[in-house]
Amino acid sequence: MPADLIRTGSEEETVAAGVELGRRLRPGTLVLLIGELGAGKTTLAKGIVKGLGAAEPEEVSSPTFTLIHEYGEPVRVYHVDLYRLEEAAEAAALGLEELLEREAVVLVEWGEKFPQLWPARRLEVRLRRLADETRLIEVRDPAADAEIGD
Ligand SMILES: Nc1ncnc2c1ncn2[C@@H]1O[C@H](COP(=O)(O)OP(=O)(O)OP(=O)(O)O)[C@@H](O)[C@H]1O
Ligand SMILES: [Mg+2]
Repeated sequence: MPADLIRTGSEEETVAAGVELGRRLRPGTLVLLIGELGAGKTTLAKGIVKGLGAAEPEEVSSPTFTLIHEYGEPVRVYHVDLYRLEEAAEAAALGLEELLEREAVVLVEWGEKFPQLWPARRLEVRLRRLADETRLIEVRDPAADAEIGD
């Protein structure tokens, strides 16, 4: 998947961007959602979950305190939030590799805190707040970038 840049002007537009992205994701894909507090990671996740046909956006809530939420039957999306974790070992103990081996997409907020945990095959989605309601969303595949440099 090539790098993609999307600008949204509202929460609804970010959900819609997530739906488009979710439709293109293959099962077993790890997606790191990267951005500061309130950047829109959970909002984008709502759309991705819908795009994958796993649940409606209003059924998706932040897993900040619960760590992992599951959507779909069978489970098609795991939505993870590592904000409250301090050690990579705590994150590793969640068994995310095993989740990836199932045919589900794994969405991870604050995964960049523990870079050593992630396989090279992943998508990175960066969200930046440009103004109150404007977000710049960049989707990139680090493995594809590496191939270009080879
Ligand atoms: N264009 C936009 N896209 C997404 N959210 C927007 C946008 N404009 C305003 N917002 C607001 O920004 C907030 C984004 O919250 P959200 O929970 O998605 O962020 P988050 O990155 O998951 O934060 P956290 O780090 O706390 O988990 C919401 O209150 C939403 O209404
Ligand atoms: Mg969030």
